[in-house]
Amino acid sequence: MTASNPMSAINIPFDIEHIRADFPVLNREVRPGLPLVYLDSTASSQKPEAVIEAMNGFYRCCNANIHRGVHTLAEEATAAYEGARARVARFINAPSARQVIFTRNATEAINLVAYAWGRANLSAGDVVILTEMEHHANLVPWHILATEKNIRLEFIPVNEAGLLDLDEYRRLLTLGPKLVSFTHMSNVLGTITPAEEIIRQAKAVGAVTLVDGAQSVPHFAVNVQSLGCDFLAFSSHKMCGPTGIGVLYGGKEILEAMPPFMGGGDMIKSVHLRSFTPNALPYKFEAGTPAIAEAVGLGAAVDYLSRIGMDAIAAHEQAMIAYALERLEEVPGVKVYGPSAQHKGGVAAFSLAGVHPHDIAQILDEGGVAVRAGHHCAQPLHEKLGIPATARASFYLYNTPAEVDKLIEGLYRVKKVFS
Ligand code: ALA
Repeated sequence: MTASNPMSAINIPFDIEHIRADFPVLNREVRPGLPLVYLDSTASSQKPEAVIEAMNGFYRCCNANIHRGVHTLAEEATAAYEGARARVARFINAPSARQVIFTRNATEAINLVAYAWGRANLSAGDVVILTEMEHHANLVPWHILATEKNIRLEFIPVNEAGLLDLDEYRRLLTLGPKLVSFTHMSNVLGTITPAEEIIRQAKAVGAVTLVDGAQSVPHFAVNVQSLGCDFLAFSSHKMCGPTGIGVLYGGKEILEAMPPFMGGGDMIKSVHLRSFTPNALPYKFEAGTPAIAEAVGLGAAVDYLSRIGMDAIAAHEQAMIAYALERLEEVPGVKVYGPSAQHKGGVAAFSLAGVHPHDIAQILDEGGVAVRAGHHCAQPLHEKLGIPATARASFYLYNTPAEVDKLIEGLYRVKKVFS
């Protein structure tokens, strides 16, 4: 293994030690003397102090249910919850906070579209275009709907380079799809898809568009108005916020025309024994007491990411993945899946000849390095690649080149164990 000088290998656009100090968990040792090297942010990111404190502060100061009371705490809680919605709207440049619906996660946001929009607008024989690199969250809801309504699912193929085959996409568009629903960034290959182009072409044939932004919104600036999508789904827990809350952004007219997803309190204007009138946006889609403290945490996460700057975060991850790919290629027997660094975000899914990915992850963990192993909720993509599973290292704003070196050292340890 060649010695390297990681800190000079890449140009970090912010004070990385300062950033790392914001994340309490990064100070911990996995075992005595073994610092944590967290390379699993694609599964879930770590949380900065600002997010943890915002949620603690909410519970300590003004916890109450929202939209229901006139007492001081209820008003403060409502203001905190709606303030978070306004922050999220600004973060993705939504024309109005009313177009930001809080869900449980990106998965629920996509299911909301499948159940509310899909049930009302799709019928037997209608074509829905997905891609071969989708997460199960953007496959299974459509499978369920296909069984129920006999709709036809078509898939944009992934080519040898790990990119979407846009010629085949153009051919599929001639089928007159009702919906094109696709990932903005693959959670396995790291591929950043040409979302604006895909949406422009879908719109030209009158299709509705849904972008799965679970891996894009946390990692680079996403602007729904320049994308021109009808829907964007993402999760808080992958962008420094808490678990239990996600977002569905939607176009105003399409959301207004959709029937509700779930019924219950808050999503109604009035209820009678035999009828109800749904509430206005966004409440129509937020039945029951929502994740209030989590919304506050997401609002704090958005503030935190905005303070650092999404362009700086993207530049850092771009440099990290370029360095990681370069170092992974040095290791005999390692095969990395997906496109070259300029087409991908900070995700490196790889295999090591003769070693099961779970063994890789376990031996890396013994050295304090956390990676994920498995099909990463993208089993059809792994089938396409002809492998059951991969190991996956993923990077976020707090990762350093020295941590990539720890990963590489760990892989040499894996090779030694299996030699
Ligand atoms: N979607 C998450 C991942 O890729 C869970 O790990």
